[in-house]
Amino acid sequence: MTTTPDTRPENRVLIFDTTLRDGEQSPGATMTHAEKLEIAELLDEMGVDIIEAGFPIASEGDFKAVSEIAKQSKNATICGLARANYKDIDRCWEAVRHAKSPRIHTFIGTSPLHRAIPNLTKDEMAQRIHDTVTHARNLCDNVQWSPMDATRTEWDYLARVVEIAIKAGATTINIPDTVGYTAPMESAQLIRRLIAEVPGADEIIFATHCHNDLGMATANALAAVEGGARQIECTINGLGERAGNTALEEVVMALKVRHDILPWDTGIDTRKIMNISRRVATVSGFPVQFNKAIVGKNAFAHESGIHQDGMLKNAETFEIMRPEDVGLNATNIVLGKHSGRAALRSKLKELGFELADNQLNDVFVRFKELADRKKEVYDDDLIALVRQNEAVSDRLRLKSLKVICGTEGPQHAAMTLTIDDEEKSVDATGDGPVDATFNAIKALFPHEARLQLYQVAAVTEGTDAQATVSVRLEEDGRIATGQSADTDTVVASAKAYINAVNRLLVRREKTAPNADVKGVGYLDAGE
Ligand code: KIV
Ligand code: ZN
Repeated sequence: MTTTPDTRPENRVLIFDTTLRDGEQSPGATMTHAEKLEIAELLDEMGVDIIEAGFPIASEGDFKAVSEIAKQSKNATICGLARANYKDIDRCWEAVRHAKSPRIHTFIGTSPLHRAIPNLTKDEMAQRIHDTVTHARNLCDNVQWSPMDATRTEWDYLARVVEIAIKAGATTINIPDTVGYTAPMESAQLIRRLIAEVPGADEIIFATHCHNDLGMATANALAAVEGGARQIECTINGLGERAGNTALEEVVMALKVRHDILPWDTGIDTRKIMNISRRVATVSGFPVQFNKAIVGKNAFAHESGIHQDGMLKNAETFEIMRPEDVGLNATNIVLGKHSGRAALRSKLKELGFELADNQLNDVFVRFKELADRKKEVYDDDLIALVRQNEAVSDRLRLKSLKVICGTEGPQHAAMTLTIDDEEKSVDATGDGPVDATFNAIKALFPHEARLQLYQVAAVTEGTDAQATVSVRLEEDGRIATGQSADTDTVVASAKAYINAVNRLLVRREKTAPNADVKGVGYLDAGE
């Protein structure tokens, strides 16, 4: 890779995290209000410069989340998204204005395909950009503007509208590769050319926002930095629409590990990466793939004899960063059945969980049960235990489950659920123990949701390992993913399904069927 001398005044790249906005737009990645606040706090603590907290006009829930994140944030700039209309922008300002440092982010699709949808001529769209950015800037000193699908917008038109947005007062211009279409050399070149040719470009910050449809999002973002971008938009675990976005952990670690050829600094405390990655995986219901860079379960695992031998002699033979650099413990075996409450509290703290006394008591009881069943309790087991304790919603809870299975079908599931504080029981049959269990849930809480995904993975090794189960449900275009872990795979399956139903109920309150705000119309918000 060739490097270009950095012509900008400083070597600092701003990290703009959009897990709570673009990430939450992934089908099924709905987070509850409390979860969004918690993720925002973790992002703030790890040193993210700008947190895009949501899309305030999208729903009452999004508005509340952005407002409260704005109030709670200690260091980060808090940003909200708005389409190119006054109503969106006003609503966004109402939410972010509570922040110490607020930002309005307004956007419009500028490529031919996107211009055709609101049916605006180039001139009409240019006028709309001028008016909406001016309006935003009259409300807030810090305005970001994005030409959506910039990488498929004609060069002349892109340069023209970027200039208009700068003149109207935008302080950051974000260049989105909305459909993950660009490639590293082109990504660098586009930013370089905008900086060189658009009047006023040297007075604002250029940002890069890359989707991962061709698996090049991180490379494209880093190339854009080479071209002069000084803000990277990204998400934890690369969460986001379709194939996702640039992953925060990947760009940050690439800038750290290859500082020799990527000489830009971020303000991120990389030791907090593992914890937030695990947390986002849980609350979004999107487990991290085992071989994912930096945060995957296998990212620091060494299987072959040659690798293990090399690692024992010198870890640098097969590791380009230390596990501790991303907050992973060197040793993973932890507590046993003789461990006490204090040891558990201290271990959980190390893993990023600070529990109130009553929560710790619950987890302690469950830890003892697990330690009786399992020889060794690993960090991942403890994390699964804590997360299992966090109910998304109280509407449905599993009280008891007894399953009869074996070679003689049909299998039976006797289940008791607490639904809205009332206990209900049923005996259901099915084609296998999991099918019988899911049939029992459907009999007790009838619903039309369709099972889209059922996935089982072992948390640790061995036949006594806990199973983590993910369940994805779809109802009227709304998608919700639930997760749970237990040494009993069928119990984990029941809890994961119930978790998904609870999330679906939250989503029902949040959106009308099929009401994905991104597709509602780029401009109109009833004005
Ligand atoms: O991908 C995209 O274009 C976006 C914009 C709203 C910035 O997410
Ligand atoms: Zn995006």
